[in-house]
Amino acid sequence: MMNKPESYIKITDRCEMFNRHVMENYFPFIRHNNKKTISALDIGCGPGNSTHDVILPYIEQDVFEIIGIDISPSMIDYASKNYGGNQITFKEVNVAEIVPEDFIERFDYIFSFCTLHWIQDQRKLYSNALKMLKPNGSLLVSYAATDTCDIFQKVYKTGKYADFISHFNYFPFQNTHNPKEVLFRILQDLLRSRRPC
Ligand SMILES: C[S@@+](CC[C@H](N)C(=O)[O-])C[C@H]1O[C@@H](n2cnc3c(N)ncnc32)[C@H](O)[C@@H]1O
Repeated sequence: MMNKPESYIKITDRCEMFNRHVMENYFPFIRHNNKKTISALDIGCGPGNSTHDVILPYIEQDVFEIIGIDISPSMIDYASKNYGGNQITFKEVNVAEIVPEDFIERFDYIFSFCTLHWIQDQRKLYSNALKMLKPNGSLLVSYAATDTCDIFQKVYKTGKYADFISHFNYFPFQNTHNPKEVLFRILQDLLRSRRPC
């Protein structure tokens, strides 16, 4: 499904609704009121509908550029054809690997919806995200911690959908008692090492 944008987009109404909910309720906490030329990144943009229909309306007035990145070439191809334009561009990037040189300290905002649970090395992920953020930039992300993984695991174990699920990956916080605390510690460490002495 994650390499099939046409199929993915047909079933993402709920995802889009949830992403809207996150923007509506949490974006006001991170909004920079004094910025005029906003640069924003959407990590794991998929087919680009959330980048265009959910994120863009919140920053449209100030936006200079919004870049959607995804590991999947077919998602990027679909997003570019259907949602690319002057303000929005899409690029194939694996956020768990090396940060593209021209992304360093480029973004005022980094958004990511329904994606970051696919990245096992959360420390590396946030280290990359912080490299891409401007020094006073903000990050707004939402992704699955543990419950969703439990459901996937149960479905996977029934064998009923074996033809559709070739393998099952545990989410990074699946066996973590307190994901919020672990994530907080990762961010605190990274921010501490980022601060100039
Ligand atoms: C469930 S979709 C979410 C799409 C969109 N953000 C939304 O909310 O509808 C997750 C996306 O993350 C992408 N993805 C997974 N691992 C990634 C990585 N390491 N770097 C960039 N994108 C990744 C997948 O290709 C997929 O398009």
